[in-house]
Amino acid sequence: MTTNILGFSGSLRLDSLNRRLTRAARDLAPAGLDISLFDRLAEVPLFNEDLEAVWPAGPGSVDELRGLVTHSDGLLIATPEYNQSISGVMKNVVDWLSRPDDAAALDGKPVAIMGATTGSWGTRYAQKELRHALTAAGAIVMPQPMLFVANGERAFDTAGRLADPAVERRLVQLLTGFHRWIALVSDPPRLVASGA
Ligand SMILES: Cc1cc2nc3c(=O)[nH]c(=O)nc-3n(C[C@H](O)[C@H](O)[C@H](O)COP(=O)(O)O)c2cc1C
Repeated sequence: MTTNILGFSGSLRLDSLNRRLTRAARDLAPAGLDISLFDRLAEVPLFNEDLEAVWPAGPGSVDELRGLVTHSDGLLIATPEYNQSISGVMKNVVDWLSRPDDAAALDGKPVAIMGATTGSWGTRYAQKELRHALTAAGAIVMPQPMLFVANGERAFDTAGRLADPAVERRLVQLLTGFHRWIALVSDPPRLVASGA
């Protein structure tokens, strides 16, 4: 059975390192894991509760994204780091997917996060903040393995393909771990014997 993952990057930049990282993940996905990418975050409007009143289902792009998230087995998110936090684009999408309160697409959704930066700390701050916001929205965020890509401009070749074997190895570890993690959290073991 195939596990279907939806991936996206929290950067709108054309040559985004994080977009490249999601493409590398799609190409390196282990057998049984299928990753499709959502690349239309630029069309998602700034969250505004007034819009919810006008479009209970959300404007077109949000409605489509919600449907894709709901029907996926898990989310793979690559976050940039801006000012030691997540990008506005990233927070905006978390806010949309955290609504409506009683049927949020993120609620109970397994999520793996990763990130690439030109800086030397590999998006540690951004990932911590993203983990916090996702958990607040009810997502089940994988604790390990983590993937911090520091000095990310060196990790990709001129065509934008991942060209750093160490990063590639860690990315495959993350994907393999996520595959197992989804199986674990989607069908949790019984902790109390029946009849006990
Ligand atoms: C407004 C802004 C703030 C940034 N702040 C940080 C930061 O706090 N830490 C960091 O590692 N990189 C920071 N950067 C550098 C980004 O990590 C770098 O531009 C990266 O390539 C952005 O991700 P992307 O390539 O996916 O667009 C910042 C970049 C911008 C534009």
